[in-house]
Amino acid sequence: MTGFSSRVEQVSISGIREVFEAAGEDAINLGLGQPDFPTPEHASRAAVEAIESHETDPYTSNKGTRELREAIVDTYDREYGIGIDPGDVIATAGGSEALHLVLEAHVDVGEEVLFPDPGFVSYDALTRIAGGTPKPVPLREDLTLDPATVEEAITDDTAAFVVNSPANPTGAVQSEDDMREFARIADEHDVLCVSDEVYERIVFEGEHRSPLEFASTDNVVVVSACSKTYSMTGWRLGWVTGSNRRIERMLRVHQYVQACASAPAQYAAEAALSGPQDAVDEMVEAFERRRDVVLDGLEDAGLDVPTPQGAFYAMPEVPEGWCDEVIDRGVIVVPGDAFGEHGEGYARISYATGMDELKEALEIMADATRAVR
Ligand SMILES: Cc1ncc(COP(=O)(O)O)c(C=O)c1O
Repeated sequence: MTGFSSRVEQVSISGIREVFEAAGEDAINLGLGQPDFPTPEHASRAAVEAIESHETDPYTSNKGTRELREAIVDTYDREYGIGIDPGDVIATAGGSEALHLVLEAHVDVGEEVLFPDPGFVSYDALTRIAGGTPKPVPLREDLTLDPATVEEAITDDTAAFVVNSPANPTGAVQSEDDMREFARIADEHDVLCVSDEVYERIVFEGEHRSPLEFASTDNVVVVSACSKTYSMTGWRLGWVTGSNRRIERMLRVHQYVQACASAPAQYAAEAALSGPQDAVDEMVEAFERRRDVVLDGLEDAGLDVPTPQGAFYAMPEVPEGWCDEVIDRGVIVVPGDAFGEHGEGYARISYATGMDELKEALEIMADATRAVR
């Protein structure tokens, strides 16, 4: 009888979904990874127009339309002064597919992939699906990833390490010095650095830097997406960029599992990236105001919380039983151990929700903290 592959048997459904299922219908949801803003009007309109004129009927080229890839490389040039050839970009079904392509193309059975713990849930699962061995790496006290910890964890079997800044679930932003170190490690140890930059534009203090800027070999690949920056999670449009030889290997996977990213989403993404950016600025300002309110509220409740400098998450240290108590009182938060063993004793709070709900939730969290202390 046909069984299931051992790779897929090692992967379980994300712990985040269990939390949603346990919560009541009118719970305040601080568990979401989706900005609570609409996709910019000009992006949606571009997709509608492309659909109505039948431009989206056929497949696009496997890598995505030339115009979208030019809009992506223009963005790197405009935002960071990084020059990329449009031929070295693949448009994907969100950052998720991009991560999948990177690991499928670079990880052999039994090879190790290092990633932050707590970290985004896909790194572990996609490593297993690629036949690799997940190697979670603990974080510093401020919840950033220490390049020295990564360097110490590298063995002869290491295929790749993942850097994620700004980070899910911590909101931590890596410094320029760290990014230079990650690039050096990738160069010197000849291992691939996978830089997951899907929150790249949501930074409150300092600026986003990429290891791609600092590497002297082609050992850095960058994954990003329109999902968070333009509130387009449902459109499923991301990309991966790297050297041509790496892109050509990833294209072999993309060509057979996806053929091309959804054409309407490609038109929307091109307009989002090349049109006015005010919606992004407004969203980031709103997230920063909320971040401040969340930090104050959690600290007033007596919780320690490293100051998140980007994305839309905070990760306080919480007493035992805190998450259950908060969820029972009608606020959805995600227990830190859903993001790895070292997430235990923390909770992820997403502030991608309106200010009034956020304030109500903070009062409930303060009551819950008193109840479990
Ligand atoms: C760190 C990180 N990387 C990648 C993704 C995947 O993004 P997408 O929705 O574009 O597939 C997410 C989504 O939550 C994320 O948090």
